[in-house]
Amino acid sequence: MRKKIVAGNWKMNTSISKGEQLVVEIVEKSKGINGVLLIVAPPFTHLTKVADKLGNTRVALSAQNCAAETSGAYTGEVAASMIADAGAKYCILGHSERREYYGETDETLNKKLAQCFANNLIPIFCVGEKLAERESNHHFEVVKAQLSNTVFNLSEDDFGKVIIAYEPVWAIGTGKTATPDQAQEIHAFIRKTLAEKFGAKASDTPILYGGSCNPANAKSLFANEDVDGGLIGGASLKADDFITIAASF
Ligand code: 13P
Repeated sequence: MRKKIVAGNWKMNTSISKGEQLVVEIVEKSKGINGVLLIVAPPFTHLTKVADKLGNTRVALSAQNCAAETSGAYTGEVAASMIADAGAKYCILGHSERREYYGETDETLNKKLAQCFANNLIPIFCVGEKLAERESNHHFEVVKAQLSNTVFNLSEDDFGKVIIAYEPVWAIGTGKTATPDQAQEIHAFIRKTLAEKFGAKASDTPILYGGSCNPANAKSLFANEDVDGGLIGGASLKADDFITIAASF
């Protein structure tokens, strides 16, 4: 059985105290939900404080990014070892906002993947096409290239730990969601692509959907065979919405 996961990507939102309040509420309200791994990904500055609030609760902690290098003279960067030290177990990598605004390439992402595994952080690795690529029917090849240039380079062992998030760029923060059929179609394609490289192990890989996922559409998205949960942006900033999404399996 694949893990079901709902992860909240807070992006560059909340103050530290708001973030603490939010996780306290999430922990409290998630008590009735079983069989779903909940993850929150606050900004770097919040990690240690949020980790303290999470303690040994069922909610796990993630960063939103990590440095490509181990340590040293890289002003402004945060190493995977520091993220792990702060109490996080997961790290989002390759989010389209990082690819788009910070020039993250497959080459950088390969280094970041290595940093995560060297520090026992589980990557939540994002892929997804832009609107023009979807409209010109190139989404399959775009997503395949994003995987084959990066995740395909992992050892079988490391691949067995990775979480994939499919986030069509045109659906992020736009209120426009992939239809359940579109999501299932490309999630199945992602799994098939991973299986071509890693064989049966790919059937255990959680593949999350991200892009305007909310309490109203989560159920119809998560009902699909190959949609194992969601990576939630805007709706993860409200405990009630996040919890309703987590209860949508
Ligand atoms: P929204 O849910 O705000 O569309 O963001 C999705 C996302 O980018 C999560 O990583």
